Amino acid sequence: MSSISISDLSVSYGSGIQVIDHLDLEIAEGSFFTLLGPSGCGKTTLLRVIAGFVQPSAGRLCFGAIDMTRLPAHQRGIGMVFQDYALFPDKTVFDNVAYGLRARKTDPTTIQRKVGEYLERVGMQGFEDRYPPALSGGQRQRVALARALVIEPRVLLMDEPLSNLDSKLRLQIRTAIADLQRDIGITTVFVTHDQEEALALSDQIALMRQGRIAQLGSPQEIYQRPASTYVADFIGAANLLQGEILDGSTEAGGLTIRVAGQALQALAQALPPDGLGCLIARPENIQLLTADGPLGNSLPGQVRRKQYLGHKTTYNIELADQQQLAVDCFGPARREFAEGQTVRLQFDPQTSQVVPR
Ligand SMILES: Nc1ncnc2c1ncn2[C@@H]1O[C@H](COP(=O)(O)OP(=O)(O)O)[C@@H](O)[C@H]1O
Ligand SMILES: [Mg+2]
Repeated sequence: MSSISISDLSVSYGSGIQVIDHLDLEIAEGSFFTLLGPSGCGKTTLLRVIAGFVQPSAGRLCFGAIDMTRLPAHQRGIGMVFQDYALFPDKTVFDNVAYGLRARKTDPTTIQRKVGEYLERVGMQGFEDRYPPALSGGQRQRVALARALVIEPRVLLMDEPLSNLDSKLRLQIRTAIADLQRDIGITTVFVTHDQEEALALSDQIALMRQGRIAQLGSPQEIYQRPASTYVADFIGAANLLQGEILDGSTEAGGLTIRVAGQALQALAQALPPDGLGCLIARPENIQLLTADGPLGNSLPGQVRRKQYLGHKTTYNIELADQQQLAVDCFGPARREFAEGQTVRLQFDPQTSQVVPR
């Protein structure tokens, strides 16, 4: 087991375009670390650099204190799981899982014991003699996990392992991966474009954008304290309201921003240099009140659309300056508002964030 550290790493596939662009990253030993981002942002490339399948054009990769940058893939001690399972179709489940141990010249008694142990860990004991084509997608991915883990690698790398599964199986295998990782305590790098998977599984998330890290943090930090409109927009639903900063010195981390002609208190991590800010507020963090409700930290608006969704009602509200936003109301006793009704929107200064536009 190993920590992973990446410093000043760049990759270009000969085209001159930096697919990974001077990237620095520290992944703690034993943690579940997720590379998250849209298609094409460089997640798979970064994972393949860690695995040793892609050579960086510059920079350094270490497992613990050991420099891995030039070490061939088979000497790195990695276990890898792919979206398409990549099992040998003409080998039995047993032989698929035993493959890495045989390549390492492990003795047959140990192979027997370890393959049994890891098939049991992934809930696939009894399937030793089956062939992959006779297994469901979820079963194949369990076998692929056992095959990756049986060699007791330093790090486990997974590239979109849930993407080929239907939604019910995806949830089952997700839970199995979380349990296994916790039991074994192996340093894990997980690649996904799915924000919910990332939030549910990770100790730390690196949200990537065009070969760089847009934000690094725990799921809570990334969701509750997005550092940019890109992050807020990618993770969860967010209202992005344009405003002008009035006072950046109210108190530690707080400021006043004018949105639709009204002053609102909010938090800020860094002051936008041009005085133009964007207020980020999650739909569930805005209180919807009647027009005669309290004025503190609020804006007037009008209900344009109401969608009753059972566990919540979503209102689309228009502000005085035509900016639109969504507000979610939860709970069995929630108050109902009508389309066309004038309302007040109250913003919580502790959950509203100002970032540069
Ligand atoms: N073997 C390759 N040769 C040239 N360009 C590549 C190669 N693999 C990936 N790319 C390019 O690198 C960028 C990042 O790709 P990738 O790492 O696969 O992103 P992701 O996994 O986030 O979807 C994309 O623009 C992709 O087209
Ligand atoms: Mg990919």
